[in-house]
Amino acid sequence: MNYKVKDISLADQGNLKISWAESRMPVLMSLREKYKRTRPLDGIKIAGCLHVTKETAVLAKTLKDAGARVSWCGCNPLSTQDDVAAALAKEGISVYAWRGLSTEEYYWCIERVLETEPNITLDDGADLVFTLHKKLPGLIKKVYGGTEETTTGVKRLRSMANDEKLKYPVIAVNDAETKWEFDNVHGTGQSSLDGIMRATNILIAGKNVVVSGYGHCGRGIASRAKGLGASVIITEVNPINALKARLDGFEVMRMIEAAKIGDVFITATGSKSVINKEHMMLMKDGAILANAGHFNVEVSVEDLEKIAENKRTMRSNNVEYLVNEKRLYLIAEGRLVNLAAAEGHPSEVMDMSFANQFLSILYLANNRSLEPKVYNIPKGQDETVARIKLETMGIKIDELTEEQKEYISSYEEGT
Ligand code: NAI
Repeated sequence: MNYKVKDISLADQGNLKISWAESRMPVLMSLREKYKRTRPLDGIKIAGCLHVTKETAVLAKTLKDAGARVSWCGCNPLSTQDDVAAALAKEGISVYAWRGLSTEEYYWCIERVLETEPNITLDDGADLVFTLHKKLPGLIKKVYGGTEETTTGVKRLRSMANDEKLKYPVIAVNDAETKWEFDNVHGTGQSSLDGIMRATNILIAGKNVVVSGYGHCGRGIASRAKGLGASVIITEVNPINALKARLDGFEVMRMIEAAKIGDVFITATGSKSVINKEHMMLMKDGAILANAGHFNVEVSVEDLEKIAENKRTMRSNNVEYLVNEKRLYLIAEGRLVNLAAAEGHPSEVMDMSFANQFLSILYLANNRSLEPKVYNIPKGQDETVARIKLETMGIKIDELTEEQKEYISSYEEGT
């Protein structure tokens, strides 16, 4: 048996979810239709380490239809949808993933996937790449390249490349405009609030929602919280992004001040201990703490565990901690709230991210001797993805006339 999932009998339910996602991902499905005939990935082994959701399943199935031998594990212990994992296993994909992995099991799954001796790796957070370099370096010679899905992973890989530790080329899919500007902003914005609402069912209107980090994800979260009627407060360390937040109409202050007035806290920084015990001690009774950043270190759960006098589970993904005679509520153990307490990003936005993944993988399959460093997506790919997406939405845009092309590239005409 070349898979390990929670319950293979959930496959039919998983297939229904995948069919729903397929109906909402026209760009990726058009690539599947095109490449299932020519099978450009024939004989290529691909190892994926990415949240096992219905959207990821559409990507994995598309890679398989294009000829690849695919193995998969989750990139977070709490984000796997067990029915989707079962459906993938039945589809012949070597999937090692279930919701609620221990740290040991998490790395066990990554190693099983690496043991398939992949030619291309597909990562979300760089745990797969890092484990390959650290534990199984002998397999690196078989790898043509990899792709990376998220901001935190890209940052880590760039650091590895700077230290000359990265041994094969990786394409930063995260940095594609048709990924970063849509998936991180609109996807994380909507689904993070969805996760908080599912875990608490609170009314967002009238609350003080504190968002840490006004980057791509933070911008999306802040705008969605505002749309639901919250007063949004931003905390930042970057003066430019702090200024953007202020001019977009949000209050900006230090966390030590925001801690005293926030009703809901959502971190999206890619950093650690953004909310720590000093802040927790100041919080109001009933404050809710959630994280949308990649790792579970942005809200210091370690601090919370240390200072809490008591804790009890209130409902799924919602644990009450008694701190300083006040009740604080931690959502989804401080892990990615949108994936652990909801279903992750909507299919429509993952359509573009995963079209970028697919096209980047095709590029790696066709360019097998790139230098070991972090690359941007191939030139023109962003425009291709945006154009197909617009077409599938029935939207037509204007084209530059010859006169306009000439005008914008010249410097003589004017007054
Ligand atoms: P970004 O680089 O666009 O924004 C991060 C922002 O956080 C920056 O403005 C930075 O100045 C700010 N920041 C850093 N340290 C801070 C601190 N201590 N206090 C306040 N602000 C701070 O990154 P992006 O794309 O928004 O990603 C953020 C995190 O979310 C990353 O870990 C990324 O991997 C993750 N992510 C999560 C997703 C999800 O599904 N939940 C989807 C996409 C990304």
